[in-house]
Amino acid sequence: MADEIKQNAIAAAGAVYYLFGATGDLARRKLFPALFSLYREGKLAEDFAVVGLARRPRTDEQFRADVYESIGEFCRYKADDEALWNKFAEHFVYMSLDINNVDGFRELSALTKKLDAKFSIPGNRLFYLALAPELFGSVSFHLRDGGLLESQGWKRLVIEKPFGYDLESARKLNEQLSQVFKEEEIFRIDHYLGKEMVQNIQVIRFANAFFEPLWNNRHIANVQITLSETVGVEERGGYYDKSGALRDMTQNHMLQMLAMIAMEPPSRLHPEDLRDEKVKVLRSLRPFESSKEVNEHVVRGQYSEGSLKGKPLPGYRQEDSVNPNSTTETYLAARVFVDNFRWAGVPFYLRTGKRLPVKTTEVVVEFKNVPNNVMFAGHHDLAPNLLVIRVNPMEGIYIKINAKKPGVDNVIQPVAMEFCQSCQVGLNTPEAYERLIYDAARGDSTYFTRWDEVAQAWAFVDRIAAAWRENSSSLQFYPAGSWGPERTEQLLAQDGFHWWPVNGQDEDNVIWISGSPNAK
Ligand code: BG6
Repeated sequence: MADEIKQNAIAAAGAVYYLFGATGDLARRKLFPALFSLYREGKLAEDFAVVGLARRPRTDEQFRADVYESIGEFCRYKADDEALWNKFAEHFVYMSLDINNVDGFRELSALTKKLDAKFSIPGNRLFYLALAPELFGSVSFHLRDGGLLESQGWKRLVIEKPFGYDLESARKLNEQLSQVFKEEEIFRIDHYLGKEMVQNIQVIRFANAFFEPLWNNRHIANVQITLSETVGVEERGGYYDKSGALRDMTQNHMLQMLAMIAMEPPSRLHPEDLRDEKVKVLRSLRPFESSKEVNEHVVRGQYSEGSLKGKPLPGYRQEDSVNPNSTTETYLAARVFVDNFRWAGVPFYLRTGKRLPVKTTEVVVEFKNVPNNVMFAGHHDLAPNLLVIRVNPMEGIYIKINAKKPGVDNVIQPVAMEFCQSCQVGLNTPEAYERLIYDAARGDSTYFTRWDEVAQAWAFVDRIAAAWRENSSSLQFYPAGSWGPERTEQLLAQDGFHWWPVNGQDEDNVIWISGSPNAK
């Protein structure tokens, strides 16, 4: 089976992968497992090396043991074939590096030459910065000054979010990076774009005659995007308290999802075409002109003490490394408009939060009701048609339609027809990071965010941040384990809508048609 998968794979060109932050959480949970999966599937051939970099001293053996452990815990493939594991592990080396000192980078350059020779690597370099963003600029300068960019092959910089703190800081950061790398060499990660079902949005939209003709303000009543999490801030209180749901989830993941839903079909499958279409959506977002407008359209919440599945939970202000008087939002809901021809007048409702009742990412597209014709007039209260795209943790889509209930009474009932991708036996969906690392190694920037997208997204959310700074009383509390502040419901009720239940937890009268064990 593994051989079969390997034979069909196209390996990325050989390169040295530099993992800055190699002892951190991201490397352990996501990056090592992703590299192993790519290797298992033949998407990494033998001409590669991974250099783990962090300040902490570690031998190559210890580093390989860390990698092994992370794969055991987080990878969708097991490292149970000893020969394969040993062959893979050989490619991993570790170097302790003080990133503030350019001398270390010169040493790294010398190490690279050895690795190039040992694994026949053609001079390609992929620098993955899983670091605090304030270090991106100086590391880039040191890469240049330490001689790491002086090679024949390509050089690419892969960076994690957050890209700045607001538009101004993002601009400064971008200026620094562009002194060293060209825009096409910078791969800004938004891991939501690596998710299978986010990428599937464009296929569902553009490859089905059912949807695209209806994908506009004549037929769509509203769109609801939910990114809910059950976790709190865990060990990340220090970072999160300065960030909040606006910067942590909205500026990036939420707006990117919105852009995928709302964009025009790109004319070609070139990365720039897709990104051009997304940036047009971001440019068309109706900006909030005043704090009053922000108050009207955006709900800002923070969790207080509560409970989830019977387990008592502390409030946000009691979490580690969080200011006990913090006004940072752990929840955000917003009504936004895309002011273009296709979407004029259609509200997009966004919500995201920590300590909500379920972990889910879902997009609900609610269609306008059909006119009540003679046949139905007065007799039935028809539920609107829905298209629901389930991104995570369950992957799939379902549509909700109205159908006749068998029998003589002419009763109409809602029916949900589901395609449950996660329920397919034997399907081993790649993790977002696999796709993204593979794409970066192939130079495909389709699912990375371009600078103009990042800048537009900041320009949009900065106005919300500014209004909140002016008006700290806009913060509303919600008990941990609930669906957020009450006002979130009103946001939709004002427009005659309501949030649709997520996770397939639809009303009891819906009949599910699906072979999946997940359907009710
Ligand atoms: C990250 C945020 O970007 O996304 C986290 O920093 C959040 O706060 C995470 O928990 C959610 O990602 P996913 O893939 O688990 O939905």
